[in-house]
Amino acid sequence: MTYLVNRLSRLRANETFRQMVRENRLEAGDLIQPLFVHHGDQVKNEIDSMPGQFQYSIDNLIEVTQRLYDAGLRAVLLFGIPAGKDEAGSDTWDDEHGIIQQALRALKKAVPKMILITDVCFCEYTTHGHCGVLVERNGQKVLDHDATLDNLALQAASHARSGADMLAPSGMIDGAVGIIRETLDGLGYQHLPIMSYSAKYASSFYGPFRDAAQGAPQFGDRRSHQMDCANSNEALREVEIDIQEGADIVMVKPALSFMDVICRIKELFNIPCAAYNVSGEYAMVKAASERGWLDEKQCVMEILTSFKRAGADLIITYHAGDAVNWLP
Ligand code: PBG
Repeated sequence: MTYLVNRLSRLRANETFRQMVRENRLEAGDLIQPLFVHHGDQVKNEIDSMPGQFQYSIDNLIEVTQRLYDAGLRAVLLFGIPAGKDEAGSDTWDDEHGIIQQALRALKKAVPKMILITDVCFCEYTTHGHCGVLVERNGQKVLDHDATLDNLALQAASHARSGADMLAPSGMIDGAVGIIRETLDGLGYQHLPIMSYSAKYASSFYGPFRDAAQGAPQFGDRRSHQMDCANSNEALREVEIDIQEGADIVMVKPALSFMDVICRIKELFNIPCAAYNVSGEYAMVKAASERGWLDEKQCVMEILTSFKRAGADLIITYHAGDAVNWLP
């Protein structure tokens, strides 16, 4: 017989012991549900590559948001699919007719306590599908970061006026957090926090989202501004700069392949960090569980708990509406 002093299995023997020594716990308040707002009435389009996720018109969006609130969720992240696109993405700063602006007003009235976070970007609103203003450089159309800042200021101001509780710039435009902070402060919205997509990688895992939000680039890609998946030191620089520019929460996106980045950020910076569990990560779990290859509930809870273990304070996930009902 072997004599062992240390038997770590002692505290794994039953669920009560396991609970007593559990290091990380998922809570409803950690979860943020992304929602796609479509123009029109009575719209509920299921997204092919994201089973269980829909584009909703505002009437349906109100119902869904109320349901999520009643289930215990306290924050949603809004993406707009506008009635019309143009070269600049002017729907994003249209106080009266902008899709996000209309959604904000309706949701603030109907579900006043739900925190409404807006994705601040242009790709769903421009005819070319890029995240800002394009200029011609060496015969190629490229993103003009500086010119995009002016439009970001317009968009941020309009979201604030329409009732957003928090703004989330997602375009990886240099200087975005700074210009948004300055704009909000100048208009008397000093109290509105910014959650910056600080370390957003040029990822193939956004594929299904681009179906959902109809914001795929019509030519080229986003590698000239989103991060290279090989880098993590650079992510720390992005985070440092965003903090200097006034970010209140930083984010890593995607999440599953980038948990090391979350971990490094939390070790170095004393700031809340969000993990964005993106569309492709959702699609993988859904597809495998539809085939009976994975147990959806178990896998989702394992993944979400692991984001917390890595250091994430908040998790943006399409599983939020389900996971909130699966919490112990
Ligand atoms: C840009 C934006 C994207 C996502 C969130 N905001 C798409 C992109 O950068 O191409 C992706 C989210 C996901 O895949 O779940 N507005």
